[in-house]
Formats: sequence, C-alpha cells, structure tokens
Amino acid sequence: MENDYSDITFRLLDLSDADDFMEWYSDEKVSEFCSWDAFTSKQAAVQYVADTVIPHPWDKAICLKGKPIGLISVTPFFGNDSCRAELGYLLGSKNWGKGIATTAVKMVASTIFLEWPHLERLEAAVAVENLGSQRVLEKAGFTREGILRKYYLLKGKPKDAVIFSLVSTDPHVNYFMYD
Ligand SMILES: CC(C)(COP(=O)(O)OP(=O)(O)OC[C@H]1O[C@@H](n2cnc3c(N)ncnc32)[C@H](O)[C@@H]1OP(=O)(O)O)[C@@H](O)C(=O)NCCC(=O)NCCS
Repeated sequence: MENDYSDITFRLLDLSDADDFMEWYSDEKVSEFCSWDAFTSKQAAVQYVADTVIPHPWDKAICLKGKPIGLISVTPFFGNDSCRAELGYLLGSKNWGKGIATTAVKMVASTIFLEWPHLERLEAAVAVENLGSQRVLEKAGFTREGILRKYYLLKGKPKDAVIFSLVSTDPHVNYFMYD
C-alpha cells in the first residue's frame, strides 16, 4: 500500500537529527547492500553524516510526518556524463514494506528533471540480490536494462548489479504526481 504523498516530505539532514539517523545507520539490515558497515557509535555516524551526507549536492532526509526515517540521494555525473545522475535511497527497517521508498522515488522522479534541466537520465545500479530495491524501481516506472557484471565493490567484494533507468522522455515521467 503506497503512502499519501502528503505524509512524506524531504529536507536536508542536520547533525541534530542524530537520534533519528542512528536508527538506520546502526541497522545491519539496512547496511547489507550499502557501502558502510552498521555504526555502533553515534559519534562515528555523526562524523560520517558530516563528511558525506551534508556536503553531498543532493542528499535529503525522507521524512514521514516530519520525522527523518531514511535518505534519498541524486548523485550527478560530470563532463560528457553530465546527462545522467545516480539515484540512491535507504530507510530504517521498521518502515520497510509500507510503500514509502516507492513513493519517495516517484516524488524525486517527478521533480528532478525540472530541477536539473540538463539531466536526461536517472539511473540506479542495484545488487542482484537486493530484490526489494529492484521492486521499488519497477513500481516507480524505471526500466530494467540488464545486468552489469562485477560492477562495483560491496564491502570489498565485486558485485553484479541490475541497472535501471528513467529518462526525461519516458512518457510516464510527468504523470507520477497524479497516479
Ligand atoms: C530497498 C528499500 C529502500 C525498500 O524500501 P520499502 O519502503 O520497503 O519499499 P516499498 O515498500 O516501497 O516496496 C518494496 C517492494 O519490494 C518487495 N520486496 C521486499 N523484499 C523483497 C524480497 N526479498 N523479494 C522480493 N520482493 C521484495 C515488497 O514486497 C514491495 O513490493 P510490493 O509492493 O509489490 O509488495 C529498503 O528495503 C531499504 O532501505 N533497504 C536497505 C538499503 C538499500 O538496499 N537501498 C537500496 C540500495 S540500491
């Protein structure tokens, strides 16, 4: 069951949100497919947020009724690759299975091509084992393009990834807000 868009908002994360972001950064179920290992110390998580989340060009807290419960990011590429950007997202596991990530991805997909007019393609590379994340992208209207073998290192081990994309000319891009 997907959420009412009005329940879900985005805002910049702040170091004063540490109690909220510890919920996902200390959660081993969340870290399984992420570049970081679950944090056991709040101080280390605060440092990570200060070093990687706050300076990021587009990384926002997903808030449910105003409370941060996860993150969603759009990472730009540069030069001849500047037509594309990579989508990433996570939620603390107590909020999984309620349609929140799908709603958040649809919200970003419906605005990012307007916010970044140079953007032609939003892509996501998902570990082949991460079936929940693949389903989110399918439900949000992304196209599954194929498998990229040994595409990235996850905790030091090469992983095959499924590559998904949404492009600015996809006919459904403009309709996300109305479905
Ligand atoms: C991936 C993630 C964001 C999904 O968030 P969510 O809010 O639970 O997603 P939604 O509820 O919108 O949709 C999840 C869908 O995946 C399905 N799903 C979940 N786990 C699954 C599994 N193991 N196998 C098959 N489908 C699965 C759910 O049933 C649901 O589909 P449905 O609506 O058709 O039933 C969340 O699990 C998460 O934060 N994971 C850790 C971080 C991560 O992996 N991020 C993505 C990196 S690419």
